[in-house]
Amino acid sequence: MNPPRRPAPPTTTTIVTFSDPSALARAVAEDFRDRARDAVAARGRFVAVLAGGSTPRATYRALAAPGLAATVPWRETILLFGDERSVGPDHSRSNYRMVRAELLDRVPIPSANVHRMRGELAPEVAAVEYEDVLAEIAPVPAAADGATDTEPRFDLVLLGLGPDGHTASLFPGTAALDERHALVVAQFVPQQDEWRLTLTLPALTSARHVAFLVTGADKAQTVAEVFGRAPHHGVHPAERVVPTGGTRAVFLDAEAAALLESHPDPGR
Ligand code: 6PG
Repeated sequence: MNPPRRPAPPTTTTIVTFSDPSALARAVAEDFRDRARDAVAARGRFVAVLAGGSTPRATYRALAAPGLAATVPWRETILLFGDERSVGPDHSRSNYRMVRAELLDRVPIPSANVHRMRGELAPEVAAVEYEDVLAEIAPVPAAADGATDTEPRFDLVLLGLGPDGHTASLFPGTAALDERHALVVAQFVPQQDEWRLTLTLPALTSARHVAFLVTGADKAQTVAEVFGRAPHHGVHPAERVVPTGGTRAVFLDAEAAALLESHPDPGR
């Protein structure tokens, strides 16, 4: 079977490398703040999808730092999650628990503005529930002045990257990757031996801007394959997160960027 056709390149992908993970975290936090202010000025609110895992932890901590947090329009900021493990909100593997500790407990965001995936429910039930949340909180806005292309659901989607090219909980070889209609699915992930909830490609690509946060030498080869020209078999899930008409940024530390050729293909 031929590998899935490589997606059309996004309009622009900006790749930025930082000397260390803390510089990367500060840069992403400042970019989050800037995008929040722009979105609120333009549309009255800012809708962001947060990444899980360990990489974004430092970014959320930087965002909660008093100097920066004071400049974020938290009352108009809506926070959603890109994926969650099928665990409760106090479980050590919960992405929500991590975000609550590093960010939510430290900034004045109204609790009603934060929408976690309820991993404590049966996976399919939680997925349907979150689909309803997205329909209510982040519906596809009516196309502006009759334009045919629909507006994106999200202003910003933050994503991590796994060494196997997964992002959110879209893992290689799983059915979630092929979902073309639902915005949220429950997926048993053999690689992790656990159920996950994840936004699907139709959801993740409905973004004005997608930002990947990637650190560590263990991801250097995957970064070169996903965002550079390094030849590889098939298409990594992360390669398919191409925002429809939106932009993409890739924030790398020096280790993760080590194998990326100095002039990556500008169209990818
Ligand atoms: C998760 C994330 C997952 C993560 C990557 C990278 O729930 O774990 O959604 O996609 O971003 O696995 O994880 P690290 O940041 O821990 O390397």
